[in-house]
Formats: sequence, C-alpha cells, structure tokens
Amino acid sequence: MSQALLSVRNVSKSFGGTQASRDVSLDLFPGEVLALAGDNGAGKSTLIKMISGVYTPDNGEVSYLGQAITGKNPQEVRDLGIETIYQDLALADNLDVGVNLFLGREKMTKMFGFLPVLDRKLMREEAKRALKDLGIVVNDLTIPVSYLSGGQRQAIAISRAVYWNAKVLIMDEPTAALGVPEQREVKELIHRLKGQGVGIIFISHNLTDIFDVSDRILVLERGRVAGERLISETNDDEVVKLMMGAA
Ligand SMILES: Nc1ncnc2c1ncn2[C@@H]1O[C@H](COP(=O)(O)OP(=O)(O)OP(=O)(O)O)[C@@H](O)[C@H]1O
Ligand SMILES: [Mg+2]
Repeated sequence: MSQALLSVRNVSKSFGGTQASRDVSLDLFPGEVLALAGDNGAGKSTLIKMISGVYTPDNGEVSYLGQAITGKNPQEVRDLGIETIYQDLALADNLDVGVNLFLGREKMTKMFGFLPVLDRKLMREEAKRALKDLGIVVNDLTIPVSYLSGGQRQAIAISRAVYWNAKVLIMDEPTAALGVPEQREVKELIHRLKGQGVGIIFISHNLTDIFDVSDRILVLERGRVAGERLISETNDDEVVKLMMGAA
C-alpha cells in the first residue's frame, strides 16, 4: 500500500470531566474515503478538530505525509493541504462566492494605484472557473452566499478545498442539512475528488450515505474506536451494533 496521507496515533482529549476522545488511531490513504461513524457525542467532531488544529490532543500524535503536525494551528494545517468543512459550515454568509473561496487568503489590488482593497473581480473570475471545473452551477456569483441553497453552499466549501489543492478533505456531516438532489451532488463531488487521489474523511449519521461513498469505516463509541471495517465486508447491522458498543 502507498504511504498514508494522514496518520493519527493514540490521540486522547478531555474537556473537564468528559473524555471526548480515548486513544484513537487511524490512517487515511490517497484516493480513499474513510467514514467516521458513532452516536451523538461519540467524539467524531473532537477527533477531526485534533487533526485540523482546532484542538491539541492531550496525548498522541497526528502526522501528515510522515511529518508530525500535532499542535499546528488551523491555518497552518490548511496551508499544508488539509481542508476541513465543519458541521456548522465555515462560509462567511454576507460575502459573495469569490471572497468565500479566498477566505483567509484574500487577493488584494490597489485602488487609485495605492489604496489596498479586495480584488473582488479577480476572486470572482477564479471562483467562476473553479466552480465550472467541478460542474457546479451558481448563476449569480455576486450575491452573498447566504442566498444560496445548502447544496450550493456545501459545493462552494468543497470547491474551496479543490482550488487550494487539498490532499485531505475532512467533511463533518456534509449531507445532514441537504435535500435529496443536493445530497446526490455532494456525493458525486466526493467520487470525483477520490478519483483525483484526495483522501477524504466523511462523518455522517446516515448509513446509506456512508455505504454509498466510503471504502472503510471507523466506528467510535464514547470516544473509543469500537471497530474498523472495510465497507465491502460489513453491513448496517454490524455498524449499528458497533455504535452501540454491543459488538
Ligand atoms: N469544547 C468542548 N467543551 C466541553 N465538552 C465538549 C467540547 N467539545 C465536545 N465536548 C464533549 O465531548 C463529547 C464528544 O463530542 P463531539 O462533538 O466530538 O461528538 P460527535 O461525535 O461529533 O457528536 P455529534 O454526532 O452529535 O456531532 C461530548 O460529550 C461533548 O459534549
Ligand atoms: Mg459532531
């Protein structure tokens, strides 16, 4: 097998008296979709936040292409090529698609030759191209993203990851708030990125989605790894049992 894109080794994290993550390890390989499943509060979001730099693990290590990245901040982790789409979609509602694509990495230009301002035109043109490349249709790129549908917003968050050449894409509940056609679009995008060698961590409560898009599944139960299976070698019943800690 090729080298892991991402390796998590024995990470743990407590919040006060709650042990949200206990001794969790995982590997993610290029072109692979790894599902993270588990009941509410099982520690899924906490785990990915230790990868994306939002939290530093109390113990354990995270490495990317063989280099330790434990303790790096979210911007440093993003700059390395690990993009995370959080449960509470990280788009800036009042800004347009172009500016959202460049959030935290805005392109500037000079007004009157000296006054630094956002180069909205350039960002919009880049956004138009990025969305077109992914087959995403947004008619008006000048309106604030709050006017877009959930699926379009999700697609923009994904195109941002693609535009910045993410090698790892982490998606926390990407389809939870979407209608059926939009869910299909997001799953289609996941397939396409996978084909380009991106490694994807996909968190979902929806077993149908998990079985549709994933290669492997890691089940968490009260912060601990309850089991890891190839999708081709498991089924709903077994996954649910693992989630309940009954396997
Ligand atoms: N910042 C925090 N402060 C205190 N407790 C937290 C914090 N973040 C998470 N927890 C606790 O850690 C546990 C795991 O939470 P986490 O958000 O990782 O679960 P989850 O698997 O993502 O759940 P869900 O499916 O509901 O999103 C929960 O008991 C939660 O209350
Ligand atoms: Mg969560």
